[in-house]
Amino acid sequence: MKIFVDTAEIEEIKTAISWGIVDGVTTNPSLIKKAVDKRQGKITMEEYIKEIVKISPGPVSLEVLGGNCDKMVKEGRLLYEKFSKYGKVAIKIPVNPSTQENDGLEFDGLKAIRRLSSEGIPINVTLVMSPEQALLAAKAGATYVSPFAGRVDDYIRSKMGMKIGKDFQKDSYFDTERIQIIAERKIDDLINNSKSVAEIYNDAEGWKFWELAQDNGVWSGVDLVAKILQIYRNYGIKTEVIAASIRNPRQAREVAELGVHIATLPFEVIQGMISHYKTTEGMRNFASDIVPSYSALFDQK
Ligand code: E4P
Repeated sequence: MKIFVDTAEIEEIKTAISWGIVDGVTTNPSLIKKAVDKRQGKITMEEYIKEIVKISPGPVSLEVLGGNCDKMVKEGRLLYEKFSKYGKVAIKIPVNPSTQENDGLEFDGLKAIRRLSSEGIPINVTLVMSPEQALLAAKAGATYVSPFAGRVDDYIRSKMGMKIGKDFQKDSYFDTERIQIIAERKIDDLINNSKSVAEIYNDAEGWKFWELAQDNGVWSGVDLVAKILQIYRNYGIKTEVIAASIRNPRQAREVAELGVHIATLPFEVIQGMISHYKTTEGMRNFASDIVPSYSALFDQK
């Protein structure tokens, strides 16, 4: 699995590169703005992005702002022209730039992907929340698709009435096995008290929790990644999947178990991945056990 760092903080990028684990960088406009603001006018946004592209060992994803095809194509070309001379760049295009139902812009993301990718510009399709979107994005020519695992978990938890900050934290692992047990128990009564399969199947009220516990058959962000990988494997699709919106080390491990091509990880998630209580305890024990004859091996002559 390739690892991208999901940050615009140059110090974090440099530190993670020094650990030897970075294959690329993903940014978004909010992350870049926050990082540049911290420099209090000492560097322009253009210089700052240039610096990130120069130090990254692999592609840096830069996002467009425009909400329709022509604007996204114009901005995508501009970003690519400006920064690809300093390193590898991929342009982030939202899969569906529409901000409301039926405003006619639903397919502008696909059109922009098609136009830019046919010019040889690598596209990272962002804000992917369903396997269906990922299939269409790949067909349109995406180099990468970024399913937002953490945000799908947030959505499912909120559908079930769980509140962020109260019932779960942004970085807490979402254990869908527990949810499935609850969902199964909740339909026990319905099954026991109904006369026919049709009566059970059509009882909307009885299935309410079951429906709330998933998003159209997707049970979690990790499940979303699994379904996209399965579809791509079915058809030998070359588009690479970037598991994005990863909030904790266990989620990173689970997308690796699925064989995802890339995970883009916030700096704190990478930090969390290296820690284990027993490793620290083991080191403490070795350190307190130092055998003089063994440590003499390292003495300089
Ligand atoms: C990366 O491409 C995304 O911008 C990022 O992973 C979103 O993460 P969040 O849902 O934690 O904001």
